[in-house]
Amino acid sequence: MAENDSRRQSGVPKSSASDDKNTVGFIDDYANDSIQGATRNRSGHVVFSNPLEKEKKPKKRVTKRSRKRYRMKNAWLFVTVFFFAAVVAASAAVMIKNNRAPSDMGDAEVTLGAKDTSGEFSDNALGAGSDTAGGKKSETVSNEDVHTGNLILVNYKYPYVFPEDNDLVSMFDTEKVYSVNTTETYLKKEALDSFKALTEELYENSGCDGILVSSAFRTMEKQREIYDDRVERYGSEYAASYVAVPGYSEHHTGLSLDISILADDGYTYDIEDYADAAWFMKNYSNYGYILRYPVHKAAITSIDYEGWHYRYVGLPHSLIIKEKDFCLEEYIDYLRNFTFDKKLLVFSEITKTFSEVPYDEYKISNGDSIIYYVPSSNGSETEIPTFDGVEYEISGNNVDGFIVTARAG
Ligand code: DAL
Ligand code: ZN
Repeated sequence: MAENDSRRQSGVPKSSASDDKNTVGFIDDYANDSIQGATRNRSGHVVFSNPLEKEKKPKKRVTKRSRKRYRMKNAWLFVTVFFFAAVVAASAAVMIKNNRAPSDMGDAEVTLGAKDTSGEFSDNALGAGSDTAGGKKSETVSNEDVHTGNLILVNYKYPYVFPEDNDLVSMFDTEKVYSVNTTETYLKKEALDSFKALTEELYENSGCDGILVSSAFRTMEKQREIYDDRVERYGSEYAASYVAVPGYSEHHTGLSLDISILADDGYTYDIEDYADAAWFMKNYSNYGYILRYPVHKAAITSIDYEGWHYRYVGLPHSLIIKEKDFCLEEYIDYLRNFTFDKKLLVFSEITKTFSEVPYDEYKISNGDSIIYYVPSSNGSETEIPTFDGVEYEISGNNVDGFIVTARAG
């Protein structure tokens, strides 16, 4: 028996010099024309000198020896000027390269800067402190926000903190790609958009053409009603295994759904047992969803296996969770290993693989999602370090900090 014990639910709507330039040095060496204020250069062209400069610096007697000495001097001057010009040009080229935004970089990779010995964050190769992409910047968030976002962990230890505006959308008012069993079915918009895309692709790619959403957002009262009902019908042990105590249910978040297959015969079937829904089992993580209560994680989640309960966490988190065979509790713990200037969790959109990279070694590449954890400060606000010019999302973890998902390119 289960929380959505729904084997026969009723019908519902489906749903980037010229040689002639005059200089004092060249006039002293090669001036032999009598035109006032004018002389000829090495090439025989008439050039005009500055008369004021001549008054300040009387013309010297030119001997063979002094000519040689002046030639040597000018050769050295030329070499020196050339050398400095080369250094300046090279520096400018490096600055231009380092200030390019990731979106201009194509396949180029750029190494991030390191912390200096004072522990302060040094300017990095991405142009930290400039207005261009890839520098560092920060955003200050209220510590209250630790309770909001796609990655909040709500379980028997960490209750949901209801916001004033829960920002939900009706599932019933959508294009009915799936069925609902009550018009009062709500979800967060991002989760719903992704669920609809998942459902539509399921129908396109499988023989399955009916999904029933039997439960989504729940108020405290609704959770109380369900909990009390299960206790009364099956006893408190059963209720504790499948139904969260009111206030501690993921259903309060508007990020969770209980779903099953609604077949043509009018019956509902568990998704994992339904052959035509194998595509769903293989692909739900590509749409930001996770199976929240896997059978082998019951000791951690404190909820027995629920094949019907899916939770939206967003991409690429769902893919990492599935690949690492984590439950949400384990993933939230794992993310504490990644802090902005130490180690980053990097998911490549191109290779669909993720890696743990020390901050000093990380090279930003387009298509990377860069994930890290920022603990809440002791005060009322927390400064979240981010990469300038790179889009990012911040989610609380509902426990002790924030998770940043920065997306390069
Ligand atoms: N069935 C899940 C654990 C809930 O009641 O929130
Ligand atoms: Zn559920």
